[in-house]
Order: sequence, then C-alpha cells, then structure tokens
Amino acid sequence: MKRLFYNPEQIVTVNTMEKNVKRGADMNYPGVLEYFSIVVEDDIITEFVPNHVIKRTEFDEVFDLTGKIVLPGLVESHTHAVFAGSRADEFRMRLSGATYEEIAKKGGGILNTVNAVRNSSVDELIEISKGRVESFIRQGVTTLEIKSGYGLSFYDEIKLLQVIKELDTIFPIDILPTFLGAHTFPPEYQNDKEKYVAVIIEEMLPYIKENNLAVFTDAFCESTAFTAKQVERIFAAAKELGFKLKLHTEQFNRIGGLETALGLNALSVDHLEVLEDDEIQMLADSDTTATLLPGVSFFLDYGYAPARKLIDSGAIVALATDYNPGSSHILNPFLIMLLASLKMGMTIEETISAYTINAAKSLDLNEEIGSLEIGKKADFAIFGTNTYSDIIYSAGQNLIYATVKNGEVVYKVESR
Ligand code: NIG
Ligand code: FE
Repeated sequence: MKRLFYNPEQIVTVNTMEKNVKRGADMNYPGVLEYFSIVVEDDIITEFVPNHVIKRTEFDEVFDLTGKIVLPGLVESHTHAVFAGSRADEFRMRLSGATYEEIAKKGGGILNTVNAVRNSSVDELIEISKGRVESFIRQGVTTLEIKSGYGLSFYDEIKLLQVIKELDTIFPIDILPTFLGAHTFPPEYQNDKEKYVAVIIEEMLPYIKENNLAVFTDAFCESTAFTAKQVERIFAAAKELGFKLKLHTEQFNRIGGLETALGLNALSVDHLEVLEDDEIQMLADSDTTATLLPGVSFFLDYGYAPARKLIDSGAIVALATDYNPGSSHILNPFLIMLLASLKMGMTIEETISAYTINAAKSLDLNEEIGSLEIGKKADFAIFGTNTYSDIIYSAGQNLIYATVKNGEVVYKVESR
C-alpha cells in the first residue's frame, strides 16, 4: 500500500539528523518542510517529495492536506489513565485550603482511588477507560503509556495491567503498560512496609514478567511513599528480570530517588519539581529523560520543574500530562504544552520536541517514532491550521484534523 500525504502547509519533522533525541539548542529546531509531501509505504515513511514533481497517479491513496499541517504523532509518555471513581470531593477540599499531602495523610488521595479500583471488575475498568483513550486519540496521540498503581495487591495490580493490555488490543494506537505497584503502601501493609516491598519483588514482578503484562517498572520515591533504598531493591529486581525503569521522584522532597534512578540507568525520571542545580548537571550528563509534568504544578498550585535550566544544560526534556484523578485531572496535551511555555519558559518548538521525540526516548521507542524521518513509522498528528504556533497559542483548544497510526487514518474530524 503506497499512500501520499499531499501538500500540507507545513511538515514539522522534528528532524534529529538520525540522532533520535534532542538536547539543548537542538530542541528549538522543528525541522519544518514547506512545499513537500510525504510518501508512506505500508506503515513506514519512505520519502519527502517536492510537490512540483509528484505524480499523484502513482499512489494507492492520496490524502489532500492543503491548508493543514503535519506533526509526528504525539507521544503521551506518563499517565494513570485506568482508574475508577472520582476525586472531585478532594478537589473541593483543596479549594477550601486542604493540601494534596494532607488529604493523602488522612487516607484520601491515591488510597481513595485504590478503594474504587478494588471494587471494580476488569470489564468495568475497561468501559470507564475507553473514553479516555479515545480522547487521547482525538488529540493526535499515537503512543500512550498507562500505569497500574491503584491496585496495590497482587490481584488488583494484575487486574489493572490486564485492563491496559486489553485497551491495547481494542485501540489502533500503541498502549504501553507500566507496573507501578510501588505507588504507595496499601492499608494492609502500613505497619509492615518491608513485607509489601517483598511482595512486589518476590510475587508481583516475576508474575508480570512471565505473563508479559508490563514493559516498564515505575515507583514513587517520596517521604510519604517509598524510600530510595526500597526503590533501589525493587528496581534492581525489576532490571534483572528485564524491565525498563521509570521513577516518580523529586516531586515534593529530595530523598535520593534521582541518584538511585541514574545509578540504574532508568529511562526516565518524572516530576522533578524540587530538582536542585547539582541534580540538573547529573541529568545533563546522563541518557535518562527528564519528564516534566506541569499539569501537576498547575492543578495542585505549587512550584514548576526547572525546565529552562534543564534544557540549557543539555538534559533530555520530555513533557506529559500525568493524567490521573488526584494531582493532574488534565487529559489535554495542548494545555500541558501551553503551561510548559507560559509557566516554565519553554519555546513552542521545545514543547513540540518534548512531546514527540524526547517522549519517545523516555519509552525507548525513539528509533521508530517521535520524528518524521525516512524509515520511521508513519504516525502523524494532522492539524487544521496553517502554522504550528497555533497548536500552543490556541491554549488547550484541540485543532486536530486527523490522527494517523502506522499509515492509517484512525481518527478524522468531519470538517475543519
Ligand atoms: O504522578 N506522584 C504520585 N502519583 C501520581 C498521583 C496519583 C494520584 O494522586 O492519584 C502523580 O502525580
Ligand atoms: Fe504520575
């Protein structure tokens, strides 16, 4: 099957010159092509052709993209999109002055959602989550990571991973499962935390590996959750089994998570709101992606991660929604890009690099996706506008015209 994506106003290639990642000033170069069309054979980009030499009759299908722009499909690399229940009551409490951490200490927060998940079946969770995945697809997302972490027992964590696996078979985009059994301590183990760490290491991780239920292992390194030592033990075991590592760390407190993650060559460290200067240098010297989640700072109304310093030092910076019911009930990559530009000083071009190639790097998929280069997958986010600034300038509005996964149109608006 040979397809032509014909005559877009701009192709924002996010060209990496085959480096498949962007650091420093390179994040600011979007590699825009004008007066070109994209040739796709089956699921792969094979050529960029100047419009004036194209013979349209040579193609099985031609998509006329006059007046539209093409970007790499967005890579949503950090979500907790499978959950049950609502935390709107906690949101109200926060509006009256309670903090996220206070609510968590009283048994609300993550444990509130754990209760709701434990009371839901696989089928119920699939039904609840479908609309969320659809919503990501309608916003140009072609690769979506989803974490467990609201089960916190062998049975319920496996249940969540099965739901994520099922969503991947239902939808045409790629959905990647992350095991986050170490999200917080469940009520049953509040007085014997080491026992829960042992359950993760001895029971959950081997079963998940054997049944191929997750690609990544994640944890929450925080004074209210797991210590750096506990994370290190869990990660060492996970790595031994072949899991790739990601870590929630430096969100509220610095307790050694970053050093632990870097020591084990984690793919990404996520949050980083309280990152300090010496840690910025450590990240810049590493291959680990700094995944920033400005939706959390906005939704919980506290400080933002030092994006500017990270980029200027040469660290690999990605952006994600962290979509979840408590700290970022924001299912909108464009709003995240807006916050990254307005609140963290990122340029429009940097937010695009952060949501495409560098997000792909954080999932170890940067050789296949994340930029529009010959040989890469034909995953496109196509917008009904003629300049890419509009995507961010439109402030959370969805300008998507079509979403293309593996060369196939998987979503298209009626008119734009
Ligand atoms: O990424 N930091 C820990 N976990 C999630 C929040 C989950 C929740 O509040 O339900 C996060 O912010
Ligand atoms: Fe998260």
